[in-house]
Amino acid sequence: MITLGIETSCDETSIAIIKNGIVSANLVSSQDFHKKYGGVVPELSSRAHIQIIAPLLKDALRKSEVSLENIDLIGATAGPGLIGALLVGLTFAKGLALSLEKDFIAVNHIEGHIFSGFLMKQNPEFPYLCLVVSGGHTLLIYVKSFSELCKLGSTVDDAAGEAFDKVAKLLGLGYPGGPKIQETSKYGDDNRIKFPVTDLKNSFNFSFSGLKTSVLRYIQSQGGIEKLDTQHICDISASFQKALVNSLTLKLEEALKKFNVNSISIVGGVAANDLLKEISFKIADKYQKKLIIPSLEFCGDNAAMIAFRAETLYKIGRRDKLNFKPYPSIDNNSFLDSSKLIEGI
Ligand code: KG4
Ligand code: ZN
Repeated sequence: MITLGIETSCDETSIAIIKNGIVSANLVSSQDFHKKYGGVVPELSSRAHIQIIAPLLKDALRKSEVSLENIDLIGATAGPGLIGALLVGLTFAKGLALSLEKDFIAVNHIEGHIFSGFLMKQNPEFPYLCLVVSGGHTLLIYVKSFSELCKLGSTVDDAAGEAFDKVAKLLGLGYPGGPKIQETSKYGDDNRIKFPVTDLKNSFNFSFSGLKTSVLRYIQSQGGIEKLDTQHICDISASFQKALVNSLTLKLEEALKKFNVNSISIVGGVAANDLLKEISFKIADKYQKKLIIPSLEFCGDNAAMIAFRAETLYKIGRRDKLNFKPYPSIDNNSFLDSSKLIEGI
């Protein structure tokens, strides 16, 4: 079976091909020009997707040594994401499916992330707890099977990656903030400032806006960013990173105590964070659970995870019509419906 995956939900254009269960191409073109605006500009993102998507497909076909006619299934991200950006990939996929007379599946981006651990040599084992930490979403999911997912909690305000990006902006470190904060934190003292570790009691929800505001207030109390020397900025970065990671792993550990799972998976762009990995591996060790964190290639937005999710849906009989509409928000998430399937986990 040969599956083509297409991902254009934000600022990465990605095309992947899975050939008989093996990722033969996973090409990602990142729109670096958003850096100068301090965040993604939606209209510019859509235009850049349009320019790059066809050449990227050609490269992926060449790399995989397959022709368009050999493709059996086409999967593209339908949401959540930037609506204009989603439209580019989804319409491109539908056009291909129509002209080539191939099956088409509209993939949920978050579900793509949730199952991205299966792109690794060692796979998660059902049921597993999945922490989704990206620029747009922060969720804790109980994953029973490829068709049964239950949302345990989510952020009530900012996403974890968004908090990294916003704090990096406050510190004048640039965009995307996660890698910058991680880098500056290496040289900082994470005990210098005691930022709050948010713990929303009796729930698996997260909140990061209070932490972000604390960083802002702290910078203001020091007379503004201009007054901070490099060491001080590194110390703020490290202290912030520690507080954020602690609030994520706190809920992960609470969920591990409550639910009997076989493994854990941490996915999404923030799963690339070294401190999050370090603490999570300690927790996994403590509870004797297998922990799967996708490699960098599959942590951030990529089409391999979209192709993989399309295949799993195809195998359980899903086919989508070519009038499937893109959706910007997580509220349209298909797994929220399937969560009804799970009772008394
Ligand atoms: O999953 P992703 O590539 O795109 C979305 O679907 O949002 O995640 C991007 C997010 C950004 O907010 C970025 O700052 C964050 O992931 N990120 C990191 C790291 N690398 C990327 N956050 C913390 N530490 C990192 N090393
Ligand atoms: Zn993502």
